[in-house]
Amino acid sequence: MTTAPTQPEPNPLVEGLERLPVHPTSLVIFGATGDLAKRKLLPALYNLAHEGALPERFALVGNARSEMSDEEFREMAMESVREFSRRAPREKVLEKLFSDVRYVSGSFDDDVVYGGIRDALSEFDEIAGLTLNRCFYLSTAPMFFPVIIDALGRNTLAREAGAEVRVIIEKPFGRSLAEARELNARVLSVFQEQQVFRIDHYLGKETVQNVLALRFANNMFEPLWNRNYIDNVQITAAEDIGIGTRAGYYDTAGALRDLVQNHMLQLLSLLCMEPPVAFEADPVRDEKVKVLRAIRAPTAEEVPGMAVRAQYGPGNVAGQDVPAYLDEQGVPEGSTTETYAALRLEVHNWRWAGVPIYLRTGKRLARKVTEIAVTLKPVPHMAFQSETSMDIKPNVLVLTVQPNEGVSLSIGAKIPGTRMAIRPVNMEFLYGTAFLSESPEAYERLIIDAMRGDATLFTRNDEVEAQWNIIDPVIQAWSHIPGPLPQYPSGSQGPPEADQLLLDDDRWRMI
Ligand code: BG6
Repeated sequence: MTTAPTQPEPNPLVEGLERLPVHPTSLVIFGATGDLAKRKLLPALYNLAHEGALPERFALVGNARSEMSDEEFREMAMESVREFSRRAPREKVLEKLFSDVRYVSGSFDDDVVYGGIRDALSEFDEIAGLTLNRCFYLSTAPMFFPVIIDALGRNTLAREAGAEVRVIIEKPFGRSLAEARELNARVLSVFQEQQVFRIDHYLGKETVQNVLALRFANNMFEPLWNRNYIDNVQITAAEDIGIGTRAGYYDTAGALRDLVQNHMLQLLSLLCMEPPVAFEADPVRDEKVKVLRAIRAPTAEEVPGMAVRAQYGPGNVAGQDVPAYLDEQGVPEGSTTETYAALRLEVHNWRWAGVPIYLRTGKRLARKVTEIAVTLKPVPHMAFQSETSMDIKPNVLVLTVQPNEGVSLSIGAKIPGTRMAIRPVNMEFLYGTAFLSESPEAYERLIIDAMRGDATLFTRNDEVEAQWNIIDPVIQAWSHIPGPLPQYPSGSQGPPEADQLLLDDDRWRMI
C-alpha cells in the first residue's frame, strides 16, 4: 500500500482535473505480466503517481498465470516503467508506488486465485483502516473476459459493503454483434452497468476529447456543422507499423474489427453527435448512440459499393524493406484477413443526410497519422478571375489526433502583390506550442476516471452493440468472398481500389 507518493507538479496551462480527490482504491490487474500492462498500464500508474493524481491510498494487486513472488512482480513493474514511461521515472516515486504490491499467480478460472485476491484486498483495507474501493482491470486475452467476470461473481467480489467495485474491460468487446451481446449479458448478470468501464483508449486521447471542446465550446462552428455547409468528412487512422508479433490476435481480427468498430466509430460519433446537455456519462453517450443508430447497416448487396479491404504487400517503410502480410511470422498461408479497410458511411438524420463520411485505416501505410478532415462546400460563386484564383479550394478543417496534435483550417488568402491572386493558407493551432506541455497518455486519463467512477470516456453496452451493428454485415459479406485480397505496397497510400468509394470529385487526402 502506498500513500500519495509525490508533490504534484502544477503546470498553470494544464487543467487540474486530475487533482480532484479520488477515493482510496485497490487496483487488481488480471494479465499483469502481459504486454499491455507492461507498456501502458504500469507506466500510466507511475505517471499518475508522478503528478500526485493517484488516490491518497492506493494499492496494487497483480495476477497472471506465471509463477512470481511479490518482490519479482515489483521488480517487473519498476522495469516496465523504466522502459516504457513517457517521462524518465524518479526512482523515489517509483519505489514508493510499488513498495507494497501483491502478486497472485494462477489461472483465471481458479477459485483459489480469487481467494488470494480477496486476502490481499482485505489486508490492504486493514492497513488503511477503511474499506478501499476495488477496481478490477481485465487486461487479458479476450477469451478470458467471461471467465474472469463469472469468477468475480462466483467469488462474491463484485460487491463490497461500504465501497465501490468497478470493472474495466479491455477491447475487443466481442468479435461480432452476437458475441458482444452475449458478453454484455454475462457482464451485466454480475455487475451493474454503472460499475462497468469498457475501454476504448482513443477516448482517453486529449485530441479526441478536443473534438467536443472545438464543437461545443466555440460558437463559430455550430452554424456550419451540417449538410448545408459540409461537403464530406474523411477520418483516417493510418499506421506505418506492420503487425509485429501480434499475428495470433491480428489474423483473427483484421483492420475492421481492430480499429474501425471501436476507435474510428468513436471519432465519427463525437464529430457527428448533437450537443449533450452536460459533459457527463449518460448525456454524452446518449447522443453518441443516436448517431450510431442513424447509420444504416448495409445489406450484403450494398457492401461492395461502400467497403474496400486489402492486405499489405512487401515494400519499403522509412528506408527499410519489409515483408508482405502473408509472409509475416505466424500469419496462416492464404489468410484473407484485411490489413486495410475503407468505408463510406452516411448518418441518416437532419444534420448529416447526404454527407459522405469516409473512413480508412491500414497498417504499413506511408506514415502514422490519425486525423479527421471536414471539407466544406465550395463557395457558390467565384468573383475572382479564374486564372488567378485557380488554386482556391473549399475550406478544410483538419483535427489531427496524432502526431502533431492540433487543428488547422485552410482558407483562401490573397497573395501579396499588385494582382488579385489567391491561394490556400493554413490557420493552425498546435497542442505542443499552445500548452507547452506533454499530453498525458490515454491510459492515465482512463484509469483515473474509472477509479473516480466517471464513465463519460468509456463505451456503454448499447453503444458497443450499435457499433457492431454497423460492422457486422460488412464482416459477414466479406467472409463469403474468397481471397486473395487486393494488395498494396507497404509504405504506400493504400490500395487504388479505395478510390471506388469516393463520390463526385472527392479525393482521399495524402497520408
Ligand atoms: C489498438 C490496435 O487498439 O490501437 C492496434 O489493436 C493499433 O492494432 C492501436 O496499432 C493504435 O493505437 P494508437 O494509439 O497508436 O493510435
